[in-house]
Amino acid sequence: MTDQHDVSWGGSAAAPGWTPPNVELKTDIPHSARVYDYILGGKDNFPADRAAATGIVKSLPNLPSSMRANRQFLARMAHVLAADYGIRQFLDIGTGLPTTPNLHEVVQKVAPESRVLYVDNDPIVLVHARALLTSTPEGRTAYLDADFAEPQNVLTSAQFTSTFDLSQPVAVSLLAIVQFFPDDDVVRGVIDQLMAPLPAGSILALSTVTGDYSPEEVEAGVAAYRSNGIPNIARDRKAVEGLFRGLEILDPGVVLVHRWHPDTESAALADTQVYMYGAIARKP
Ligand SMILES: C[S@@+](CC[C@H](N)C(=O)[O-])C[C@H]1O[C@@H](n2cnc3c(N)ncnc32)[C@H](O)[C@@H]1O
Repeated sequence: MTDQHDVSWGGSAAAPGWTPPNVELKTDIPHSARVYDYILGGKDNFPADRAAATGIVKSLPNLPSSMRANRQFLARMAHVLAADYGIRQFLDIGTGLPTTPNLHEVVQKVAPESRVLYVDNDPIVLVHARALLTSTPEGRTAYLDADFAEPQNVLTSAQFTSTFDLSQPVAVSLLAIVQFFPDDDVVRGVIDQLMAPLPAGSILALSTVTGDYSPEEVEAGVAAYRSNGIPNIARDRKAVEGLFRGLEILDPGVVLVHRWHPDTESAALADTQVYMYGAIARKP
């Protein structure tokens, strides 16, 4: 599966001769990437995804604003890492469907030579991978169909080894994915494996669901995800901090995503409108 679906291009255009991969979309079962897409106003979703999303939003009325806040966190985080921390290599796991601005668009605007490897295990994301592969000529973008829970498949892939120079720092981004993994030990184990080969100065950026500010709503929302067959968990601040074991959490710490280096738009959101914590941390 992994080798079959490795795709990558450097250069300024989408891949010449791209044919959408022949994949089984299982459109009768809700998928987290398509539920997220529907709630963000995208078009890449099916009736089962829309029905699940409608039920989930009933429990979590601020989910659309929370998801948008998470997406804006992604853009600010990527800009800060490229502009202030000088990071030029990004491994983004749980990429989701292409949504403007995509991570490579943000970082290549700061530094066109930036290299990005996108990883997701949802076939619908694979179908749309071409939209993630519009690199600048100086940089590179690549896509890998692989599972977060099997980090060795990522680290040993041709995409990983040909995209990254491991003498230079790499930022690993895990945005809105670890809530699908309720066991902290599993998440920490994957993070340890992902960070192990990276040099000092590498970064982990993470965002995930919390019920700290709207406990009843989030509890109902987590239950709604689970009843649609999508495992889910909300973590409190201490549990999220614990996911950064062995890393130095950087300013401003673990905060609601709209409070992380806020711009005017995110600063205007109330804490009850956002169900996600976010933070970045550095490998010492
Ligand atoms: C809520 S979306 C987040 C998208 C994007 N990171 C963002 O923050 O806007 C979660 C993504 O994680 C992906 N995902 C879920 N479980 C995964 C797994 N085990 N391995 C790889 N990707 C996974 C889903 O397919 C989906 O695209």
